[in-house]
Amino acid sequence: MSMKLTFEGRTALVTGASQGIGRAIALALSLAGVRVIGAARRSALIDALSEQAQSAGGRPIDSLGFDMAEPGASRSLAAAAVDLAGGAIDILVNAGGASRPIALQSPDAEWNEAMQIGFFSPRELTHALLPGMCARNWGRVVSITGTSEPQFLSASTPAKAALHAWSKGVSLEVARNGVTLNCIQPGRIRSEQLMRRLPTPDDERRYAEQLPMGRLGEAEELAAAALFLVSSEAAYVSGVVLPVDGSFRRFAF
Ligand SMILES: NC(=O)c1ccc[n+]([C@@H]2O[C@H](COP(=O)([O-])OP(=O)(O)OC[C@H]3O[C@@H](n4cnc5c(N)ncnc54)[C@H](OP(=O)(O)O)[C@@H]3O)[C@@H](O)[C@H]2O)c1
Repeated sequence: MSMKLTFEGRTALVTGASQGIGRAIALALSLAGVRVIGAARRSALIDALSEQAQSAGGRPIDSLGFDMAEPGASRSLAAAAVDLAGGAIDILVNAGGASRPIALQSPDAEWNEAMQIGFFSPRELTHALLPGMCARNWGRVVSITGTSEPQFLSASTPAKAALHAWSKGVSLEVARNGVTLNCIQPGRIRSEQLMRRLPTPDDERRYAEQLPMGRLGEAEELAAAALFLVSSEAAYVSGVVLPVDGSFRRFAF
């Protein structure tokens, strides 16, 4: 058996493709020969990524503007992506989102928006694309989640926990249709949101010293795991939560 990952003319939709983890996954898929549609609010950044992908020998990356905070935007994005793809989205990577520290007294609206971005939006997008995947008997969904070990109160942690439980449940429903759903739990991966908190090289060095590997993870290292999960070779891997965290989590099980 060849160790080469195969994608056989697949088309992927990647949210959060303007920055960080989603951007690295969109680029890696394009370099692997997959037709990629990227979505985020800053679609111009995805157009710039497309140029970069093509100069490196990858396929062009189409962009669609999309705000996950807007109820109903996921359904419109799914329809626009299917249209752009000429009928089939085979691979969905839910990488858009953000961590969201929150005060105990925060109003309901803030919690609701965090759930909208962190859970309702990726759930709606996935459910809109699943019937097509099931009908074609092939599909891959990877959701980028986050820690299950809260170190402070964050409104995104319960949304990520909901994604874990939902992804597992749906994976059972579509297991006989050639469709897999998995989650990747990032540790501390270099990204726009993390680097805002570490503006100088000294800040990064001090922060990285606390991590088991003494360094941040790179988005490309997480993209490598995502590429495996969406490949044809990963057909029997479904319903898992895969940490890509340099052994950051405390518990083995
Ligand atoms: N990096 C880490 O160490 C780490 C750790 C744990 C979990 N995560 C999770 O990994 C996922 C990816 O984050 P990242 O680290 O790659 O961060 P990032 O560099 O800040 O990228 C976040 C991406 O999500 C998009 N996004 C954010 N809010 C959006 C909205 N309202 N509508 C549409 N798109 C939106 C952003 O695009 P626009 O701003 O252009 O819309 C951007 O492309 C997030 O869910 C994050 O919580 C990351």
